[in-house]
Amino acid sequence: MNTQILEINEQSLALSKQIIVGGGVVAIPTETVYGLGANAFDTQAVDSIFKIKGRPNDNPLIVHVHSDYDISMLVSEIPEYAKLLAKAFLPGPLTMVYKSKGVVSSSVSCGLDTLAIRIPSHEGAQKFLKYVGLPIAAPSANISKHVSPTSAQHVFDDFNGKIQLILDGGRCKGGIESTVLDCTGKVPVVLRSGLITRDMIAQVVGECREYVYKDGALAISPGMKYKHYSPNCRTILFSYDRLEQAVQTYRQECQNGVKVFLLCDDSVAKLAGCENVLNLGADENQIAANLYARLREGERVAELIIAIAPQKTDGVMVGVMNRLCKACAN
Ligand code: TXA
Ligand code: MG
Repeated sequence: MNTQILEINEQSLALSKQIIVGGGVVAIPTETVYGLGANAFDTQAVDSIFKIKGRPNDNPLIVHVHSDYDISMLVSEIPEYAKLLAKAFLPGPLTMVYKSKGVVSSSVSCGLDTLAIRIPSHEGAQKFLKYVGLPIAAPSANISKHVSPTSAQHVFDDFNGKIQLILDGGRCKGGIESTVLDCTGKVPVVLRSGLITRDMIAQVVGECREYVYKDGALAISPGMKYKHYSPNCRTILFSYDRLEQAVQTYRQECQNGVKVFLLCDDSVAKLAGCENVLNLGADENQIAANLYARLREGERVAELIIAIAPQKTDGVMVGVMNRLCKACAN
């Protein structure tokens, strides 16, 4: 199959609709990462996403809809706090989990009685969703466990020959996946941290909890139990206060002839004084936006990536740390 990368215009939108209605998949940009989308009503199409990605079949997908879509067609029991949050943050990088009405394919939620809904703010994503007019089930457009894609080229690198169309909406500005929020209880619970932080949510609705997955426990959000976001090379993660040790390891590995790169923010890059650096940038928004692109760059040039955690570990950095820990997990 020939994989096309097309800018978003009338023609490519018409083609994308044809593919989706015909039961195929289309890669789409969002403000967080690119997604691999299919018609959420079409079980065969949804199942094919799992196959193409190599995704475990107990890890549910998020359904994407445009900003005028009436989500009460898909889900029930929308609590008052969820309405407040939708008003504050949507369209945007916040996915909300509700009780499902069971009208989309049961493959989307892998048999769970809940459904995750996301209204992306990316202009191209909105155009696509409005043009197609269907709820679109879409995971991140990467091979399962690999680094998530923040450009059309990243999607191409993983799926060349396996999908027909990538809609090119430029580089994703957010850079890490949406915050996933359980809205089925009295109080919202963050299942996956992201750019909309727990504090931001608590500021709107008073209280917000955070779900912590413990190995072996029944996962509410099954995606959290898997190794994820990993580059195809060795990785070691050091906390910020072990910078000296990280630099020592870098030097030692260099001496041993290993192609080693330091992955760190701008301030650490200046302190460390190493030659090979994958620079994440200066502030927390840059760090989030650059994380996956630098990891993908890293796997092309390095045999070993030594990552140094940012000094600040709250707010948006909770999500960045979550991805960094998983990328560097064994
Ligand atoms: O930013 C994003 O969310 C991107 C873009 C493409 O929208 N999508 C994305 O999808 O990251 P994916 O499949 O890589 O991650 C979806 C996460 C997984 O951790 C999954 O377990 C969780 O959402 N999830 C999906 N449906 C759920 C449900 N019904 N209950 C709990 N967690 C759910
Ligand atoms: Mg993913």
